[in-house]
Amino acid sequence: MKTLVLGFLLMAVCSALSPEEIQRLEKMPGHMKPFGSAGPYFDIPVVNEYPSTRDFFNKYVIGSTPLVIKGAVKETIAYRNWTDEYFIQHPKSKELVFAEARKKEVRTEGGFTISFRKYVKHYTKKAMYMVNGVPKFLKPDVPLPNPLKCKEVMAKLADTVMWYSDGGTRSVLHNDDVDNINCLYRGNKTLVFVNRFDTDNEWVNKVIEHPESSY
Ligand SMILES: *[C@@H]1O[C@H](CO)[C@@H](O)[C@H](O)[C@H]1NC(C)=O
Ligand SMILES: *[C@@H]1O[C@H](CO)[C@@H](O)[C@H](O)[C@H]1NC(C)=O
Repeated sequence: MKTLVLGFLLMAVCSALSPEEIQRLEKMPGHMKPFGSAGPYFDIPVVNEYPSTRDFFNKYVIGSTPLVIKGAVKETIAYRNWTDEYFIQHPKSKELVFAEARKKEVRTEGGFTISFRKYVKHYTKKAMYMVNGVPKFLKPDVPLPNPLKCKEVMAKLADTVMWYSDGGTRSVLHNDDVDNINCLYRGNKTLVFVNRFDTDNEWVNKVIEHPESSY
């Protein structure tokens, strides 16, 4: 298992460019370079434990400020016990899940349904990428992040998604209509955030794929 990310998604954008706009964009730093590589960069606060629910919502969710929480899931069964073997041996692992048929996201291309156990046995051999709700039988291994543990917040929880692959996956530039807590359990993941409030609105609406998709 090279990468495994769980997302707690909480409720809370293509048309043609003109020749002038293309010329303007071609002169921008970062043109034809990996997305996000030209900066400018901003520091993101890093903490070692969950903030209180009040701080989490007031400062970060309402403030629309990203936050890195180091080691937040280390004490969970998911972090400590999950291995491919644990999944395969689990008596309930035949639960069905959805997998994309390739590792680079192509939203117009579909995927397929497969038993979780079969996915775990084959995902390193074929290009496939599981993007599915956390399987029911694994939910007890994944406690809710502390700031979400109250009735009012839980009522707004839109989804709990598990991304599971053997590495090398990429997603398209997109907008999420919901706030996310991304928990990295294995491997590494690079997230590039664009400050929506500091970016030319017209431009954002042109380059971000699928304005209609919620996340
Ligand atoms: C997790 O692993 C520990 C030992 O490393 C074991 O004692 C415990 O029973 C395991 N829990 C589950 C749910 O498999
Ligand atoms: C991320 O993981 C991959 C393989 O698992 C590795 O090749 C790569 O060097 C890692 N990148 C970083 C920034 O750690």
